[in-house]
Amino acid sequence: MFANVLSKGKIGSLELRNRFIMPAMGSSHGESDGKVGQELIDYYAARSRGGFGLIITEFACIDLPGKALPGQLMIDSDEFIPGLTKLAEVIHKEGGKIVVQIQHSGRQTTSSITGVQPVAPSPIPCPVNRDLPKELSIEDTYQLIEKFGDAALRAKKAGYDGVEIHGAHGYLVAQFLSSYTNRRVDEFGGDLAGRMRFAIELIKNIKYKCGKDFPLIFRISGDERVEGGRKIDETVIISRHLPKQAPMQFMYPQEFMRVCPGWWPPIMFRTAIFLMPLQQLKMLLM
Ligand SMILES: Cc1cc2nc3c(=O)[nH]c(=O)nc-3n(C[C@H](O)[C@H](O)[C@H](O)COP(=O)(O)O)c2cc1C
Repeated sequence: MFANVLSKGKIGSLELRNRFIMPAMGSSHGESDGKVGQELIDYYAARSRGGFGLIITEFACIDLPGKALPGQLMIDSDEFIPGLTKLAEVIHKEGGKIVVQIQHSGRQTTSSITGVQPVAPSPIPCPVNRDLPKELSIEDTYQLIEKFGDAALRAKKAGYDGVEIHGAHGYLVAQFLSSYTNRRVDEFGGDLAGRMRFAIELIKNIKYKCGKDFPLIFRISGDERVEGGRKIDETVIISRHLPKQAPMQFMYPQEFMRVCPGWWPPIMFRTAIFLMPLQQLKMLLM
């Protein structure tokens, strides 16, 4: 029954000892300054020892104004490389592979966490956090694209087997993709092609800095489930289009419940709610 999941897996150039993958999950075991410390290393080492073929770390923030939680991992400066390196070394020693999830919260954070006004594609407050975000200028947007690329390069230098772009859960990348949060009329907004530009540019930036063979995963929500938000039809187009623009190892869709922090859905909604759009998307992509 478990023959398939226990058999070796391959995602692009990434070879896995089995097909058990631990998805990104904020653990609250990081240090208060965003560094990887011994507690977090022990936490992931135990999961790797337990047998996961691939661990995708909890979200690591690429720029301080995009931090979602006080103890969130940071990857916005080289000072975080030594801790990240130690973690990758321990997982490799256990026989597993490790990918770091890189993220920016956009409007889904508050100045009480970051000390500054949140930023977003358009100045529309998150209904949960409520801070009015500052609309990103074109120049700021290109700077963030560079920061995503720099963060991925840090992961590569720290010995990671790849990076995952957090394009789900209503965070910054998802905010650009969605007509619900992106009301821009410039090159980063408007039709779906414009709304996809941020994701495409940051994928290209990562590939440029890390090399085209560096494994890249893009996490996307299947259906935003907010009025005016992205539905499965646009997700299908994005899922087909992004890998063509910049070849990636794989993408996986995930249902997103509402435009608010991603750790709430499992508690608030019925069981297996992720499955329906996942099956739909799989069928539509076949
Ligand atoms: C406490 C907690 C923290 C989470 N943190 C993240 C995160 O950092 N990044 C992310 O993409 N998803 C995060 N998630 C979502 C999980 O990766 C996962 O999708 C969710 O638990 C549902 O499981 P499933 O996708 O296997 O159905 C988190 C979930 C929980 C419960």
